[in-house]
Amino acid sequence: MAEAPLKVALLIVSTTAAKDPSTDSSRAALSSVLETEGGGKWELIDAKIVPDVVVQIQRQIMLWADVAAEGVNLIVTTGGTGFATSDNTPEAVSALLHKQAPGLVHGMLDASLRVTPFAMMSRPVAGVRNKTVIVTLPGSPKGAKENLEAIIKMLPHACLQAAGVDSRTLHVQDTHIHMHMHHTTTAITTGMGTDTVIAMATDMEISLGPSRRSRESPYPMLSVDEALQKIQEHTPAPEIIVSKVDTSLTGRVLVENVSAREHVPGFRASIVDGYAVVVPKDGKMNGVFPVVSVSHAAPGDSEEAKTLKEGEIARITTGAPLPPGATSVIMVEDTVLKTMTDDGKEEKEVEIIVDGVEEGENIREIGSDIKAEDVVLSKGELVSAVGGEIGLLAAVGVGEVKTYRKPVIGVLSTGDEIVHHDRPGDLRLGEVRDTNRITLIPWNRGRQAGQA
Ligand SMILES: *[C@@H]1O[C@H](CO)[C@@H](O)[C@H](O)[C@H]1NC(C)=O
Ligand SMILES: *[C@@H]1O[C@H](CO)[C@@H](O)[C@H](O)[C@H]1NC(C)=O
Repeated sequence: MAEAPLKVALLIVSTTAAKDPSTDSSRAALSSVLETEGGGKWELIDAKIVPDVVVQIQRQIMLWADVAAEGVNLIVTTGGTGFATSDNTPEAVSALLHKQAPGLVHGMLDASLRVTPFAMMSRPVAGVRNKTVIVTLPGSPKGAKENLEAIIKMLPHACLQAAGVDSRTLHVQDTHIHMHMHHTTTAITTGMGTDTVIAMATDMEISLGPSRRSRESPYPMLSVDEALQKIQEHTPAPEIIVSKVDTSLTGRVLVENVSAREHVPGFRASIVDGYAVVVPKDGKMNGVFPVVSVSHAAPGDSEEAKTLKEGEIARITTGAPLPPGATSVIMVEDTVLKTMTDDGKEEKEVEIIVDGVEEGENIREIGSDIKAEDVVLSKGELVSAVGGEIGLLAAVGVGEVKTYRKPVIGVLSTGDEIVHHDRPGDLRLGEVRDTNRITLIPWNRGRQAGQA
């Protein structure tokens, strides 16, 4: 049978919310309890915010309960039930009650005490004024919600009796109240990514009335490995982007093998300061040789590359390209200066004082460090800040690489007791500073910097 809904008025008692209504979250929390747990019996017809001032609390309650035309069945207050000097709601309400309802008070306290001993810090009152049931809930949205959940199944009875409806007709209407919560869980599970639901699950559980809350979690404990695997399973495939090889590459992961574009070194280079020579078959290099050219490390400085012949030598500096035809380099320490050019600026003749010179001595051949097309970094490697990967890519002439876009990770601390770690002022009883987020978020950057 369809009855008219019972009318609920909500009184938020909070000096803060009275100044800035946007700070209030009780209204949403309690509306949702009425909707999800109320069996469709309730209609929230009014909500007001007043500061923690006795006369203001009383005035609003009387406006709802004393005028027959209003016909408010239930007044729910939230806030001002604690021990602080500003907490006056129970006193304000008690003074207005025509009948006390200690059973509702017990019901609320019993439920809350199962959740937290801090329930002892709440001083709820409940009762009837005229035809209206009045209940005081604590100010924390979580506590208010739990208290309301604890008694909401009984409130229709209480309200109808208070309003003067014959109690025998009441019991008949009652049967369909009880089935509202299971769909809520399912809807949320299907509506979101599964890793989100791992976090949500406990909250849903708490939103069930205390008497129906499982004593054991229906969600089995996950090991860290299992949790990581679940995250892996439900993480979308990474996006591939083309990244420039510069310092911004730090922390990115390579999508594919990276090969050298160029030989390193790219030319035959001397390892020492000395003289490029053409080694004769017998390896005998003792003697005085004319210096026919000079090769410096700085490009462009070298004279027009002239093929070196046996019996000629070329002065060469460390790292400079060998003149064509040269087969070895003699260290300057193994030579003696014999004559200078007329202007005194260059060497004209140099004596070599070693024997048994072999081809290829003191020369870095083309590609002797890295050959073009060699794989220098493999698919899946992390480009770290300190491991030299960026330098290696630079050395082999690679200007761009494919990497995975860095995943965006959200870190969420849950719990009504959690406050911003830097919230000014002392903690209130039960509050805990949020340290997990600030611990976890920089971990990602630290790991990149520390990765060797
Ligand atoms: C409600 O109770 C108050 C105080 O007892 C009384 O003054 C008022 O007339 C009552 N209102 C109704 C509608 O019964
Ligand atoms: C990537 O390079 C490694 C060697 O570094 C090689 O074993 C592997 O086959 C290469 N993969 C591809 C796809 O070229």
